[in-house]
Amino acid sequence: MSQYSISPTGEKFELPGKEDDSKEFERLKEVVNNQRTLGREIVLVMGLGFVGVVMAAVIADATDEKGNPTKFVIGMQRPSTRSFWKIPLLNRGISPVSSEDPEVPLLINRCVNEKKTLTATFTYDALDLADVVVVDVQCDYLKEALGNVRDGRADMDALEESLEIIGQHIGPEALVLIETTVAPGTTEQVAYPIMKKTFRKRGIKGDPLLAHSFERVMPGRNYVSSIRDFWRVCSGVNDEATRRVVKFLKEVINTNKFPLTVLDRPIESETAKIVENSYRATILAFLDEWSLFAERNGVDLIKVINSIKVRPTHSNMIFPGPGIGGYCLPKDGGLGVWAYRHIHGFEDDIFKITPLAININDTRALHVAQLTRDALRNMGRPIASAEILVLGASYREDVGDTRYSGSELIVRRLAEMGAELRVHDPYVLHWWEFEKQDEYPASSHSLKRFFRGQERLKDLRVEQDLKKALYGADTVIFTVRHKHYLSLDPDEIVKYANGPIAVIDCFGILDDEKIKRYFELGCEVKGLGRGHVKRIKDQVREAKGPLLFNIPNQFAKDEM
Ligand SMILES: NC(=O)c1ccc[n+]([C@@H]2O[C@H](COP(=O)([O-])OP(=O)(O)OC[C@H]3O[C@@H](n4cnc5c(N)ncnc54)[C@H](O)[C@@H]3O)[C@@H](O)[C@H]2O)c1
Repeated sequence: MSQYSISPTGEKFELPGKEDDSKEFERLKEVVNNQRTLGREIVLVMGLGFVGVVMAAVIADATDEKGNPTKFVIGMQRPSTRSFWKIPLLNRGISPVSSEDPEVPLLINRCVNEKKTLTATFTYDALDLADVVVVDVQCDYLKEALGNVRDGRADMDALEESLEIIGQHIGPEALVLIETTVAPGTTEQVAYPIMKKTFRKRGIKGDPLLAHSFERVMPGRNYVSSIRDFWRVCSGVNDEATRRVVKFLKEVINTNKFPLTVLDRPIESETAKIVENSYRATILAFLDEWSLFAERNGVDLIKVINSIKVRPTHSNMIFPGPGIGGYCLPKDGGLGVWAYRHIHGFEDDIFKITPLAININDTRALHVAQLTRDALRNMGRPIASAEILVLGASYREDVGDTRYSGSELIVRRLAEMGAELRVHDPYVLHWWEFEKQDEYPASSHSLKRFFRGQERLKDLRVEQDLKKALYGADTVIFTVRHKHYLSLDPDEIVKYANGPIAVIDCFGILDDEKIKRYFELGCEVKGLGRGHVKRIKDQVREAKGPLLFNIPNQFAKDEM
């Protein structure tokens, strides 16, 4: 029976069978022969995810000083029901990732349809044709508990499988550049032995030319330039691998303006990525306790942070929002802690701050459910059956990436408390974490397993029409700083909701004028780290007299 892969817009693509491999390989051989006559190097990018798609296009766009393309890129993606649709879409010149960066669709269209330096495929045979292989498959960290990152393990299955397949296909002179964020030690202690063994079986005597250089991509407004125009760190397993990776990165990335750092060994490049992200996770987690302090003592943490950030030494302070999310920060420190024992064999426990930071970030969103409950109580409404609209499903502003977003935890906890959930997000068409919660992100690894009463969330659909989403809502939770939400007018929101609502600000989205206006309209407002809202409420109450706020209901309870 035929199997299909369905794109986010609903287009159905039949999965190729084994018999399609040889036909596809013939197509690629012909294209590659032509490209070689033009003097172009053949680069295969393995894994067309958030990183691989745009990295492939950046490489395909590279030119020499005269403006002639120097590379031909084959984007390779395994033909799974979840991801195969990316291949036909990319081959039409359409980006399979949505983003706020207008350069993404232009770049992909230019490389596929105009320069003809980019194609996508499903066949591993394409590896036979490559001079360079860039590995952008995922390496996950699977957590077994909520809020305890130590209870988990690195899931290197996709990466190990990819390396084995690469070893079976590539020529001995091909450079393999691992861009995947890995547990420190992976390139030398996991990848090298896998490939060396496969090479030996094929009678290849030399060492595989392996290198590591991690991605610092930020899939937002500067998606493309965060890959092309940004500093890189790299290292190879031997001198030749280092020479090749330096040459390759200099040819495809803007290393003139953003110089390359070459480290002695791949474990140093791998550790740089893990430390970089653990540092960021830690400075975000650090503000969680001060956020609670602020809420309980009349302090607006947003203004406090802005007042501190004027000091150049403290300019990288960031307000954490409802948890951290994204694919990287929740897992990368875990890969490091895990590697210390399971790759390097140490038995003692040296890590304190990194796991604590991840645990704090992983559970911060739960507090939003408490704020929502309390705001509704102040309005005399119970949380059970309340209609709650979550504004933003993705983990950060102006992207369509929902992986480990704080919003997911908010929805799950509120559903557990009996609320009815709705969601709006201009960048997200399907929130697979709910629609396919039995198999996404991996079977039996949905966060669903940490909460009760989650079955009905399979029916949660992302509404694109804000007015429709608002109609009849009891609560609006601002979870993400999407540009669409920054200037929403309180009067309009209350009009579309059809009456006063509870408003929860998770990300410092509301300024004092808007908070005041919501109170004047009879709404209740609460926010993460925003203890000063009570002061604004009292001012409005004083100005208007107490009647408006006198809600005779058993649930009415004044807040702290
Ligand atoms: N997303 C980010 O913002 C970001 C930033 C910096 C670093 N990274 C790192 O980059 C790496 C890739 O991340 P991503 O966000 O692109 O992940 P992703 O899950 O979006 O993409 C991985 C892709 O690899 C494919 N794949 C898996 N096994 C394969 C195989 N055997 N053959 C071919 N394709 C295969 C998957 O189907 C998927 O499309 C990760 O290590 C991540 O930590 C990501």
